[in-house]
Amino acid sequence: MEKFDEDQSESDSHKAKPKLAEGIRFIDENNIREKIALVRVDFNVPKDETGQIIDDRRIRAVLPTINHLLDERCKVILLSHMGRPKGKIVQELSLSIVSKRLSRLLEKEVLFVDDCIGEKVKNAVKSDYEIILLENVRFHEGETKDDINFAKLIKDSTGANIYVNDAFAVSHRKHASVHSLAKLFDKKDRFAGILMKKELLAMERIFENPRKPFAAIVGGVKVSDKIGALRNLLNLVDKLLIGGAMAFTFLEAQGIKVGKSIVEQDYIETAKVILDEAKRKGIKLYLPVDCVVARSIDGDEEKVVPVQEIPPDYAGFDIGPATIVLFSEVLKDARTIIWNGPMGVFEKEQFSKGTYSMVSILANSTAFTVVGGGDTDVAVSKMGEQHRISYISTGGGAFIEILEGKELPGIAALRS
Ligand code: 3PG
Repeated sequence: MEKFDEDQSESDSHKAKPKLAEGIRFIDENNIREKIALVRVDFNVPKDETGQIIDDRRIRAVLPTINHLLDERCKVILLSHMGRPKGKIVQELSLSIVSKRLSRLLEKEVLFVDDCIGEKVKNAVKSDYEIILLENVRFHEGETKDDINFAKLIKDSTGANIYVNDAFAVSHRKHASVHSLAKLFDKKDRFAGILMKKELLAMERIFENPRKPFAAIVGGVKVSDKIGALRNLLNLVDKLLIGGAMAFTFLEAQGIKVGKSIVEQDYIETAKVILDEAKRKGIKLYLPVDCVVARSIDGDEEKVVPVQEIPPDYAGFDIGPATIVLFSEVLKDARTIIWNGPMGVFEKEQFSKGTYSMVSILANSTAFTVVGGGDTDVAVSKMGEQHRISYISTGGGAFIEILEGKELPGIAALRS
């Protein structure tokens, strides 16, 4: 594995400043001493039925930013969303539980305020606490409406004099705390945090000057969610490997009968376009050659069959062993590998081999490896291989939109 470090990325690029980070001021490169810093983070962490946090990676990921701001004697006011409460107070989506975890991780007290605007916030900022976590910003309907007046209320309540976005994972949302709020601050007072910097520089290495051969692995259920990313990847990669349920739409587009496997009928034509485009551009596109099928997702009568022999009353739930060997061979000479989306229903043991094998292949590769998107990073963590992947993005939707080649509103707002 080639480990990602941002200095290397900068020295590698003999050209000027990399594009994604262009025009963005980073907190670790500028004077931010003794400021009141309003920091947008993404603490949208998964919880179990009892409300306990089951994965705190997104909280840990912003610790470098918080510690840097504390070292610079800033007051740190953290702002985040959790879930989709649709402008209403939903107690299960309160960030109070996050403040406890954060406090434990930082070994410092964190003051939790049960709103993100108003007198309570003003009083909290006046207190001696160095770190304040405000309540779920989506409890106010102005957030998802990108309401400038709501953004003004946040700014005025906190009295912040700098704005920091360290929430890459929500920067694809044109929401008040991500977009309008940033623009209320003077250009010189808007910054990206340390996590955001890592995310942008890792993505730049993929877009600007990827080492070749460059391979992308795309999985997951729906082609429809990833068309933009797939099409844009055809401008970048040498090899495209498609797995997961979405592969069945491509196989069907090739005239292969896939039984009861999930096929997006409305996207068969799109799949054909992508297959044709890959051929025209000379990109090698690989689909599964075999798969693990069963009569149902519960795994009854499961067996491995070549994709041409999927019985009519069976559905595919994972890539098969021959595909794992094929994908492993294809990735052997790759020097850049990007992966989004599982190869099968890996939550179920009998359908997990494909996804976990890909984790091993990437962990053992000498390429620059980038993993992004909800479930893919979960698979990497479950295998305990997170330290053998060059970069694991905290973004799900944001990661996909970057792959689509889109400018994310939260990043654009830092620049403009
Ligand atoms: C995520 O988990 O992808 C981000 O926190 C964004 O959440 P959202 O999809 O609810 O906007």
